[in-house]
Amino acid sequence: MASQHYHELLLLSTLLFVFISLSTQSHETLVFPVRKDPTTLQYITGIYQRTPLVPVKLLVDIGSGFMWVNCENHYISSSYRPAQCNSKECALAESFTCNTCNDSPRPNCNNNTCGLFPENSIINLSTTGDVIDDVVLFRSIHGNFATVPHFLFSCGSNNLMEGLASGVQGVAGFGRTKIGIPTQLSSVFNIHPQFALCLSSSPSSNGFIFVGNGGNYKLAPGIDVSSSLMRTPLIINPVSTGGVSFEGETSPEYFIGVSSIKIDGKAMKINTTLLEIDDEGVGGTKISTVTPFTIMERSIYKAVTRAFIKAAEAKKMKSVASVKPFKTCFSSESIKSTRVGPDVPIIDLVLGSEDVYWRVFGANSMVEVKEKEVVCLGLVDGGLSPRTSIVIGGLQLENNFLEFDLGVMLYPPTSLPEFLNRMRWRLTWHFLISF
Ligand SMILES: *[C@@H]1O[C@H](CO)[C@@H](O)[C@H](O)[C@H]1NC(C)=O
Ligand SMILES: *[C@@H]1O[C@H](CO)[C@@H](O)[C@H](O)[C@H]1NC(C)=O
Ligand SMILES: *[C@@H]1O[C@H](CO)[C@@H](O)[C@H](O)[C@H]1NC(C)=O
Repeated sequence: MASQHYHELLLLSTLLFVFISLSTQSHETLVFPVRKDPTTLQYITGIYQRTPLVPVKLLVDIGSGFMWVNCENHYISSSYRPAQCNSKECALAESFTCNTCNDSPRPNCNNNTCGLFPENSIINLSTTGDVIDDVVLFRSIHGNFATVPHFLFSCGSNNLMEGLASGVQGVAGFGRTKIGIPTQLSSVFNIHPQFALCLSSSPSSNGFIFVGNGGNYKLAPGIDVSSSLMRTPLIINPVSTGGVSFEGETSPEYFIGVSSIKIDGKAMKINTTLLEIDDEGVGGTKISTVTPFTIMERSIYKAVTRAFIKAAEAKKMKSVASVKPFKTCFSSESIKSTRVGPDVPIIDLVLGSEDVYWRVFGANSMVEVKEKEVVCLGLVDGGLSPRTSIVIGGLQLENNFLEFDLGVMLYPPTSLPEFLNRMRWRLTWHFLISF
């Protein structure tokens, strides 16, 4: 079983970076190149927007419900339009506010314009911002650009730029809302509302996000990734996890149902209440591109590290002093290296049933501290009562192929309340582990 899995890994490893001949037929597939910023470990993408067009760098936040850009830093455009309160655009944005501004009109300063609360999730800061639309250019998988004349987004301000990687002017939100990037693009191009994420661990090579394509990814002739993906439902957190939210607002973030954790095949005891999302939206497991390392609630963190250390001893790995922010570190000399990273105990996140698991090999669990010849378990203690018990972060996502299928078209709704009532989420999250 394990060896078969390994074989699959090797097969795909060669192919993944030959990326990617999609079987697109006539459907549009959009691609966002993503690069890891070596200083902040943030994942950065870029678009072109406005008239005249300018390039804009954005932080990739798959849990953010919409795109926002800084409108206070030379946002000059002849094509921008504020979204008028009570308009169709404001309904799509699910805005509950109507802004005014006592100054000369410009992006983020208009009367009778609905607003949202753009958030910088690196520093946990939200402000108010107008909803506007403007020309946005996206890259098409066919090599050309696809223009969206009226792409809806919100306006951030200078004080929301703190903590973002150098040159970044906003956030690319791939969250599950009607104006999130996947759903908005699926509506404009009449493509399946889904996106696939493949982050690169190296700042010198691109990762990608694909939007569209209905689940057919061919890495090379004859190799269809979609057939080898494991699937698990996406879970909707009934309570928004955002900085500012309204009663009844669900979370735009992507949660999955981790039911147990195994180290080298052995399940450990953890408080399963923490793995469930309660009525207040607390608990559960989410996927985050703005967290560099997986964060676990303290009792889970302790159970995992304890079991990991025990399994490491069996492998004759030599413990050494910790290197912040990590606590569990080993001497590099005592660990062999393999195609899937350092040869350390394997962590499985079991997803509901025993045969569905997210397998984490050394490349995705360990952080090398080269100067000290040390490798550390790349997990962070989330303290005693975090809002979300497990936040799966960047290191664990890298070199994995994750497809988020939003299942049904959300937009344009025929009649909003009726549409929402009969909306059924066929949310399937598939993943493929490859390296
Ligand atoms: C908004 O309306 C007020 C009152 O009519 C006016 O003084 C102000 O200039 C307007 N603001 C903009 C941005 O047009
Ligand atoms: C932001 O909030 C998250 C989750 O509550 C927390 O883990 C993180 O440390 C916070 N970041 C800052 C800079 O306060
Ligand atoms: C399990 O976690 C829940 C939620 O934090 C807590 O209320 C409960 O007391 C915990 N149970 C045990 C046995 O620690």
